[in-house]
Amino acid sequence: MEPELYSSSSEDETQSIGTRFASRLHRGDIVTLSGELGVGKTEFVRGVCSYFDVKDIVTSPTFSIINVYEGTYPDGNPIRIVHIDLYRLKSKHELSTIGLSEWLMLPDAIKLLEWPEKANGVLRRNYYAVTIRALPDDRRIIQITYDIPHTAQVVS
Ligand SMILES: Nc1ncnc2c1ncn2[C@@H]1O[C@H](COP(=O)(O)OP(=O)(O)OP(=O)(O)O)[C@@H](O)[C@H]1O
Ligand SMILES: [Mg+2]
Repeated sequence: MEPELYSSSSEDETQSIGTRFASRLHRGDIVTLSGELGVGKTEFVRGVCSYFDVKDIVTSPTFSIINVYEGTYPDGNPIRIVHIDLYRLKSKHELSTIGLSEWLMLPDAIKLLEWPEKANGVLRRNYYAVTIRALPDDRRIIQITYDIPHTAQVVS
């Protein structure tokens, strides 16, 4: 699949791109969010949560590492959204302490993972990868890829 590219000029626009992206998400999906500090990963997650009508205020799980939100599909079905931020993780050992692979395997939740490069080896291959880059003028380039289609998913 060709990467999808979007350009955003504001945090609101980044949220809207996240909201539109969310309409393709299914139970169990994993979304990774990459890009430097403060580039807008959490703004994108806010957009995703807005699609699922999350009532809670979506804050960065920088210190809590994991935030869980209760959302609703447009058809009224409930969906749990797990927002993980590995930025503060210091060692691989902490990955098992927080139970990262268990969280990522949850079949009924949508999982959004910031700083996935700290989860080396824990991620399965099929996931949406959102990468955000900042341009010098505050705009953002948002790239979305999904390399392995659902149909190729191997259940072990
Ligand atoms: N086009 C844009 N898209 C998103 N955020 C923007 C944009 N322009 C400016 N901003 C600002 O950049 C900041 C992005 O913060 P956010 O918490 O989403 O970043 P982050 O990538 O999650 O950072 P961290 O790695 O610390 O979690 C916000 O303060 C937002 O107002
Ligand atoms: Mg963040």
